[in-house]
Amino acid sequence: MRGKKVVVLTGAGISAESGIKTFRDNDGLWENYRIEDVATPQAWQADPELVWKFYQARRRQMKEVGPNPAHEALARLESELDDFTLITQNVDDLHERGGSLSIIHMHGRLETLRCEKSGQIEVRMSDEDLEDDFLFCNCCAESSRVRPDIVWFGEMPMQMDEIYDAIGSCDVFIVVGSSGHVYPAAGLASAARLAGAQTILVNFEMPINGYDFDEVHLGKAGEILPKLVEKWLAE
Ligand code: OAD
Repeated sequence: MRGKKVVVLTGAGISAESGIKTFRDNDGLWENYRIEDVATPQAWQADPELVWKFYQARRRQMKEVGPNPAHEALARLESELDDFTLITQNVDDLHERGGSLSIIHMHGRLETLRCEKSGQIEVRMSDEDLEDDFLFCNCCAESSRVRPDIVWFGEMPMQMDEIYDAIGSCDVFIVVGSSGHVYPAAGLASAARLAGAQTILVNFEMPINGYDFDEVHLGKAGEILPKLVEKWLAE
């Protein structure tokens, strides 16, 4: 893998061993909440309190967990390769805390909050910022309410131009811990393959887009990814 242009896409599965629930596994987040009640702009309009409390709980939980060996393995890969891009669908900060330096958070971040009026984002993770009351911005003359800095269903994922540039020119595309249900992320493996990349999957079970991968490694990312990274760097 040395000398190659490598792009990695991660999903909720990489944070599962850190104790963050995935979305679609048994007892995943979407078993207990309906997407349309907490993860759409319409939900924020209709019942902002429910949506706010849902994300405040996620933000509080993030402080209680830490990165696992899979996050650390990707940080190692980044540090050893000259051309490496990490894209994550995850809104947690475990890649950052696992040592990754450059991360595209295509579905937003829990750490930051976004002013509803100006769209400006701020890191707001102090203890007072994690309670269930609504928060207000520091950017507007008349302070406005902030919303979670999350890409909801029906909204455009972030940094898509950068993502498609990276996918269109990579030699190897690796997906870790994603079920392949949510587009456009789920379509990146087939786009990378069409552009000539080798596609590799590391996932607990076969995802619905499993046929897009040239190489499949089934198991827990925290157990198998460190060994794979070791092998890839030795090749
Ligand atoms: P999902 O919950 O849909 O899928 C998680 C995948 O990780 C499943 O295929 C699991 O088999 C796998 N998995 C579970 N534990 C694992 C482990 N220890 N090691 C490796 N794999 C494991 O999560 P995503 O595909 O990330 O979007 O979901 C995509 C998007 O749907 C999320 O970003 C979120 C959600 O709705 C938004 O909120 C916008």
